[in-house]
Amino acid sequence: MLIVYFSSATGNTKAFVDKLDLPARRIPLRASEDGLVVEEPFVLVCPTYGGGVSLAKRQPKPVPPQVIRFLNDERNRHLLRAVIAGGNTNFGADYGKAGDVIAAKCGVPYVYRFELRGTDEDVAVVRHNLLSHAEDLGLEPLGAERQ
Ligand SMILES: Cc1cc2nc3c(=O)[nH]c(=O)nc-3n(C[C@H](O)[C@H](O)[C@H](O)COP(=O)(O)O)c2cc1C
Repeated sequence: MLIVYFSSATGNTKAFVDKLDLPARRIPLRASEDGLVVEEPFVLVCPTYGGGVSLAKRQPKPVPPQVIRFLNDERNRHLLRAVIAGGNTNFGADYGKAGDVIAAKCGVPYVYRFELRGTDEDVAVVRHNLLSHAEDLGLEPLGAERQ
């Protein structure tokens, strides 16, 4: 069981992932840092940026460039099993849009969306569902001591 996530300086996604209390690795914020390469199937947790791509006339970019770089590495992309996206309901139809884009491009299920740091209920539901469906999703099971 592995969570891979990106979080900007505001740290909302990091706060959500920390509450899940599952093994996790962070995609670096700065391009100057070494890129992350993983070696185990993972669920990606990704915040949405782009600022309401449906209304903007410019090129829509709801997936952060750091996440695009990480997924452009085939060693990472072939281990992606599912995506969870963060966002803000203020963005209406574009709430959690990064998850739609990643799911469509990479052919994986979009299993959950949450707002900002997620509620306690979001955390409980995601943790329970990832643990109980690990095998269905193609994730390695978590050791009993971490459950
Ligand atoms: C410039 C900007 C654009 C955003 N665009 C969207 C958007 O299109 N859809 C959405 O659901 N949330 C959008 N958000 C909200 C972020 O996804 C949300 O604040 C998220 O929790 C940020 O996670 P982070 O602190 O881990 O980076 C945007 C936030 C910012 C600052």
